[in-house]
Amino acid sequence: MSIIALAGSPSPRSRSSALLRYAIHALRARGLGVVELGLRDIPAEELIEGHYSGAGASALRARAAAADAVLISTPVYKASFSGGLKAVLDLLDEKAFAGKTVLPIATGGSPAHLLALEYGLKPVLSALGARHILAGVYATDKQVRLDEDGRAHIDDDVRGRLEESVDRLAEQVLPRGAVAHEAYDLGRLALAGGFSV
Ligand SMILES: Cc1cc2nc3c(=O)[nH]c(=O)nc-3n(C[C@H](O)[C@H](O)[C@H](O)COP(=O)(O)O)c2cc1C
Repeated sequence: MSIIALAGSPSPRSRSSALLRYAIHALRARGLGVVELGLRDIPAEELIEGHYSGAGASALRARAAAADAVLISTPVYKASFSGGLKAVLDLLDEKAFAGKTVLPIATGGSPAHLLALEYGLKPVLSALGARHILAGVYATDKQVRLDEDGRAHIDDDVRGRLEESVDRLAEQVLPRGAVAHEAYDLGRLALAGGFSV
């Protein structure tokens, strides 16, 4: 079982990527393999020029094809998901997410654009063939604090919603009864004190 995690923020100190990483840690604690990809993993000219046959784009498509599920994170930019993430999604195969469970994650400056995942990102995921899109996790900047050392401190409420969503995702990709409870509990403990982004 493998999962691809796409981070859609161009920022090196990114709140949405911090939430993504929290979800990745929780999934790995359950014994699931997660491959992480960010905007910088694809050459800028391939993204800007929509260079479909470029090496970065080809590697992206191969990783997406091999995955059973997709984690995807984005900041809200101008009431929608980031343009950088759209450039990445434009390099995927037409039905790249067919048969895959998708968990979307977003952060925004305020609750005003809480629905950006619903009206912005989810229709695009649907167009890419995703039929099982989990309820997304949205957090505001106040709920995800980044300290000077680059550690993320995530509100309990947001952690709870992330853990619930990760549970749902794991149920979809793990064979019935195969959830690694012991590893998961250790993972929760490790996450309790914040972690580097
Ligand atoms: C160019 C730009 C546009 C933004 N537009 C919005 C917006 O329309 N609505 C909103 O709630 N926040 C907006 N924000 C705030 C970001 O969504 C917010 O700070 C987010 O947590 C950044 O995520 P990141 O740290 O992962 O990049 C914007 C920020 C930038 C830089």
